[in-house]
Amino acid sequence: MSDLLPTDSIVPEHVAVIMDGNGRWARERGKARHSGHRAGVKSVRATVEHAALRGIQHLTLFAFSSENWSRPAAEVGALMALFVEALRREVAELHRNNVRLEFVGNRASLGAALIRKIEASEARTADNDGLHLIIAIAYGGRWDIAGAARKLAKRAVDGDIHVDDIDEQMLGKDMQFAGVPDPDLLIRTGGEQRISNFLLWNLAYAELWFCDTLWPDFDETEFDRALDFFARRQRRFGQTGDQQEVAEC
Ligand code: FPP
Repeated sequence: MSDLLPTDSIVPEHVAVIMDGNGRWARERGKARHSGHRAGVKSVRATVEHAALRGIQHLTLFAFSSENWSRPAAEVGALMALFVEALRREVAELHRNNVRLEFVGNRASLGAALIRKIEASEARTADNDGLHLIIAIAYGGRWDIAGAARKLAKRAVDGDIHVDDIDEQMLGKDMQFAGVPDPDLLIRTGGEQRISNFLLWNLAYAELWFCDTLWPDFDETEFDRALDFFARRQRRFGQTGDQQEVAEC
């Protein structure tokens, strides 16, 4: 384990990760893109273990976006097969480690075999009270917001709610992450500095950490660098720094 973090440092409750750079990692080695995704599974395992060790309560991984459907069919097929295989291989170990697994995203757009694996792994780990691991597959931030708006509109049309009563809390309750605290820290690997339609609603006050490391090379030391950055941030939530210092006294 890296000794980058003092043991009493502030740990984020919820960390979200955009795992980018698998394709470039493979290309640098003269391999096909899917071998980068396969190598990425190892980093997923290391990241999950390290998150649990550091006492992080919720870890959300962006595995496949709404927009990733437009990649070449062979890559999409390889990724979907990889998700099924990873669940088949990893869920028993996750369960042994008390991890609660959940999936967000447009489940209806996925294949039957993957849906079955998702449902089985959620059911098997539902009572675990260790790390809450959320995997976003076929997920898009705009899709999530539009879905919540649609549900509220239907309830208003049905007369269950009044339009004037709609507020941020009500919308949030109809979104995929209802009941989960907003991410405190977003990590994006692979050198790009953008959100790519990830948790548009939920990242409002997240601290953002970007690193050049390609996802298959992301390890505990790199994770600790991000946690160290987080521990040094003063979070203001719209207030002034002085107000925060008074509140911290
Ligand atoms: C982005 O890299 C990565 C993905 C779209 C797939 C992420 C999937 C995994 C890490 C596989 C395992 C996941 C789970 C949850 C078991 P990219 O292909 O866009 O890389 P590039 O920018 O270098 O082309």
